[in-house]
Amino acid sequence: MALERTLSIIKPDATRRNLTGKINAKIEENGLRIIAQRRIQLTECQAKAFYAVHAERPFYGELVEFMISGPVVVQVLEGENAVAKYREVMGATNPANADEGTIRKEFAESIEANSVHGSDSAENAANEVKFFFSDCDIVG
Ligand code: CMP
Repeated sequence: MALERTLSIIKPDATRRNLTGKINAKIEENGLRIIAQRRIQLTECQAKAFYAVHAERPFYGELVEFMISGPVVVQVLEGENAVAKYREVMGATNPANADEGTIRKEFAESIEANSVHGSDSAENAANEVKFFFSDCDIVG
């Protein structure tokens, strides 16, 4: 198995409810290491650019508004098969479909306010990590 890195975002619905520590505990309990972390307020420009792949979707405007509605915590996670592993730990995008014990089942409010983001492929992970962190910010 390969040691991988993935980009995680703890979203505004979760920071608003003071859930950063509980979500980090889930991440660590599942064998992923948080090797970089920063709490930031996204600008509209950053949120639009980060989710540019969804620009044509009907929910894009609301998604951008939601992502700038409060602070987020951006993180780099490292572990064996970290991309797929974190997607397992997060659970399905829609919390109604998420498995028991996953972050979204336990904490998400809706398909939009779904508490966390995780990269969906190794290639996207590399680009998303670079979007928020320089090599010097990451201490593995
Ligand atoms: P995320 O994993 O960050 O990737 C894109 C985000 O868009 C997703 O989580 C949700 O927050 C949001 N999203 C996806 N589908 C919908 C939808 N049908 N309606 C509203 N928001 C959505």
